[in-house]
Amino acid sequence: MTNTNIKELQATIDQIAVNGKGILAADESTPTITKRFQAVGIESTEDTRRAYRELLMLTPGVNQYIAGVILFEETLNQTTSTGKPFPKALEDAGIVPGIKVDKGLVHLANTTDEQITQGLDGLPERLAEYKSKGARFAKWRAVYTISNTLPSKLAIKTNAEVLARYAAICQEHGIVPIVEPEVLIDGDHTVERCEEVTEPVLHALFKALYRHKVMLEYIILKPSMIISGKACAKKSDPKTTAAATVRVLKRTVPAAVPTINFLSGGQSPEQATANLDEMNKLGNLPWNVSYSYARALQETCMKIWAGKSSNIRTAQIAFLKRAKLNSLAAMGKYTEAMEKEEVTIA
Ligand code: 13P
Repeated sequence: MTNTNIKELQATIDQIAVNGKGILAADESTPTITKRFQAVGIESTEDTRRAYRELLMLTPGVNQYIAGVILFEETLNQTTSTGKPFPKALEDAGIVPGIKVDKGLVHLANTTDEQITQGLDGLPERLAEYKSKGARFAKWRAVYTISNTLPSKLAIKTNAEVLARYAAICQEHGIVPIVEPEVLIDGDHTVERCEEVTEPVLHALFKALYRHKVMLEYIILKPSMIISGKACAKKSDPKTTAAATVRVLKRTVPAAVPTINFLSGGQSPEQATANLDEMNKLGNLPWNVSYSYARALQETCMKIWAGKSSNIRTAQIAFLKRAKLNSLAAMGKYTEAMEKEEVTIA
């Protein structure tokens, strides 16, 4: 690692690992954003995607709560309606631009329905290009399916290895890696089962990061929370989720990691905020504990916008409110009553 790289990595961490600030994941691939748009009756074209992401990123005042935005490659190359490249618009607002660099999921051979993330081939070249366009951090998502027998040892080990290789390559380019091991919420598993599988997943990941000489001071960990499955009859409440998640993180994530920014993974916006808040209310955490949500930050906003420019203002207010509540949750200062409070835009 060169001194220049370390300086770049440190500057990015200093700007992102800030108490009360989080990350907006706006890096849905084209098929994913199209699915989300269709669910609320919005046509997905290059320009509607551009307009929607401009709405999010240019929300006045959002930089009080959001320190970084993860972009999809298409957005990295697009401009605001006044012709400014998005990475520049973000930097001007004091927000760090990042980029999703994985190429999605494929079947992991010799497993039953488990997946591996692809995209390592050509990654150094792509990182150099993204960096020249303003990206300062990256994201790579690995997924783990829960059942009575899964995830398999093979999936745990292979995903850890790939995440670590990606992280090492990023750091070599002066790009901070978001390392995202997502244990999926799909299924009817209990919170206890989620805890039982998340611990070995994180343990294997940090072992691999060590093997690949990744400097833990310059990564962002983006895990899933320990929570009951979507189809589980007994839902885990915020206190249970917070206690189990912090217990497992304390066992597996070294204190050298500066910040943990959770994904929302299909939780409702209110649930994702309440769970994050409860973790911070526990106190005594060795890392900054915050958010890197896509759906839990965007859901209401996207629905209100509905593809109409006349709705931009109200949609931005909804987004700003979610960002503000999550910012408070990242400091353990959120209450449910705040859901009813109005937020205004300057
Ligand atoms: P969700 O918050 O919607 O889970 O998305 C986060 C993310 O970036 C998934 O890779």
